[in-house]
Amino acid sequence: MKVKGNFPSTRLRRVRSSNWVRRLVTEHSLSANDLILPIFLTEGKNKREKIKNMPDIFRYSIDNLNQILDQASKYRIPMIALFPNTPNSKKDKFGSEALNDKNIVCKALKKIKKNYKNFGLMCDVALDPYTDHGHDGLLIDGIIDNDKTLEILINQAVLQAEMGCDVIAPSDMMDGRIGRIRKELDKNNFKDTKILSYAVKYASNFYGPFRNAIGSNKFLKGDKKTYQMNFHNSEEAIREVAFDVKEGADFVMVKPGLPYLDIISLIKNNFKIPVFSYQVSGEYSLIKNAIKNKIIDKSAIFETLISLKRAGSSAIVTYFALQICKELKNQLK
Ligand code: PBG
Repeated sequence: MKVKGNFPSTRLRRVRSSNWVRRLVTEHSLSANDLILPIFLTEGKNKREKIKNMPDIFRYSIDNLNQILDQASKYRIPMIALFPNTPNSKKDKFGSEALNDKNIVCKALKKIKKNYKNFGLMCDVALDPYTDHGHDGLLIDGIIDNDKTLEILINQAVLQAEMGCDVIAPSDMMDGRIGRIRKELDKNNFKDTKILSYAVKYASNFYGPFRNAIGSNKFLKGDKKTYQMNFHNSEEAIREVAFDVKEGADFVMVKPGLPYLDIISLIKNNFKIPVFSYQVSGEYSLIKNAIKNKIIDKSAIFETLISLKRAGSSAIVTYFALQICKELKNQLK
C-alpha cells in the first residue's frame, strides 16, 4: 500500500486530539455480543466454590447456577460454555462418565434449556474431565488412541445434543472427529446442532488454572503434546482448519488467545469463516492477579479483548465476560 501525505500538511495526531474524534475513527469495538461466558459445574447442593488462582471465578452446583445465569441473561451474553468438575470416584480409564446421561453436564443442560431462552449452550467434547489419567482421549499402552477415542466422542456429542446443547465444541484434537461427529449428529436428526471446532489448540502452558478448576491437574500423566499443536508452528494451523471446515465445522477456535494473535489473523485471512478465540485460564489469572496487585490498570482487560477482535475474532471465550459487560454498561451511563 502506498502511503499518502507528508508532514507537516499531514499530522496523524489531529484525529487523536480529543475523545470525540478518537471515537469517530475507532476501527474496532467490543460489546456483549462478542463474548462467551465459561461456567464451571460441581456436584452437590448449594455450592459456590472458589478456584485456586482464578479470583472471582467459581464452581457452581446446579441449584446455584441461577446466580450466574441471571447475569448472563441480563447482559445478553449470546452463549455460555459448560465445564464439569467430576468427582474423583466417577473417573476411570475410559472416561465412562462422559456417556452417563445423568452426569452433571447433562443435568445442567436440561435445566438451563428449560429455564433460559436467550443464550446458546456450548459444551466441550473431550474426555479429560472424566478420565483418571487426565487425557482427552483413551490411553492405551501409553498412547492416546485416536480412532478408538472417536467412537466415544461421537456418542458424547449426540448425548449432549439430546440434552439440549446447541453448540458442540470438540476440544480433544483427535484427527477426523469433526466429520465423524457431524455425520453422527445428522444421523440422529440434529442437523441444526452447530459444531465449534477447537481446530487450532496448542499444547500450551496457559491451561494450568483450568485443569485445577475441573480437577484434572492432579491426574494428568505426562503432557498433551501428541495431540495438541506444537506452538512453534503456524502453517500447520491452516491444515487443521482446512480439514475441519471440509468436515463440517461451523466455526473454528484458536486457543489460547493473546499469545496467538498471529494465528487468529492467519486463519481469518485464509478462510472466510467465523473464528473464535479463547482467552484461557492462565491469561485470565495473569491479568486478574496483576490488576489485583495494582501492577496494571483494569483497562488492560479491554485492551486484550480488543486485540483479539482486531486480529479477527468474531467472538471470544473469556472469564472476564461478566466483569466486562458490567463495565460496558457503566460506560454508557
Ligand atoms: C480440555 C480443555 C482445556 C481447556 C478447555 N478445554 C484444557 C486442556 O486441554 O488441558 C482450557 C481452557 C482454559 O485454560 O481456560 N479439553
